[in-house]
Amino acid sequence: MKYPIRVLLGAAALSIASLSAVAHGPVTPQAVDTRSLPPLGDKWRDENPYRGHPQALKVGTSAYNQNCARCHGLEAVSGGIAPDLRQLDKDCVTQKNAAKKAACFKEMDEYYLASVRKGKVRNGAVYMPPFEGVFNQEAMWAIKTYLDSRREAN
Ligand code: HEC
Repeated sequence: MKYPIRVLLGAAALSIASLSAVAHGPVTPQAVDTRSLPPLGDKWRDENPYRGHPQALKVGTSAYNQNCARCHGLEAVSGGIAPDLRQLDKDCVTQKNAAKKAACFKEMDEYYLASVRKGKVRNGAVYMPPFEGVFNQEAMWAIKTYLDSRREAN
């Protein structure tokens, strides 16, 4: 054998550690400057008030890249670590009835907001950190506006 086993194990442990630091490490969230967006006040909205808003798209794109892409993938294309967020609203897209379609998007907005506010924590394991208290709702909805722009057509 070329290398003693201890060295090989050490190298493996090191690469696993650095991999998980990239994927799930405790990374400080990057502040999102939402001053250019219409303020939303303290009451949580149950639907994205910035749908299709160009400035929200801009703010959300950068906020996504800095805070979500490391787990959910660049341009929201998942590398398999976390769900592919382009597919979040996919069942709404194919809905033909206009009222049902609107209700579907609203329901997904609510689910999105709850996921981002509370994160994904099960049995003490943090799959995704909570963002409540880190981002204001302007930032959260701006990111949703970005995700809408990445939505899969069907
Ligand atoms: C540390 C990695 C990590 C970061 C950072 C992260 N997420 Fe997640 N996210 C996950 C994982 C893992 C899941 C799936 C959790 C589960 O198994 O329930 C998830 C689930 C979600 C879901 C639910 C998706 C579904 O299909 O059910 C949404 C929405 C979401 N994340 C949005 C975001 C947004 C927006 C950001 C950035 C503000 C973000 N996440 C940052 C790891 C992350």
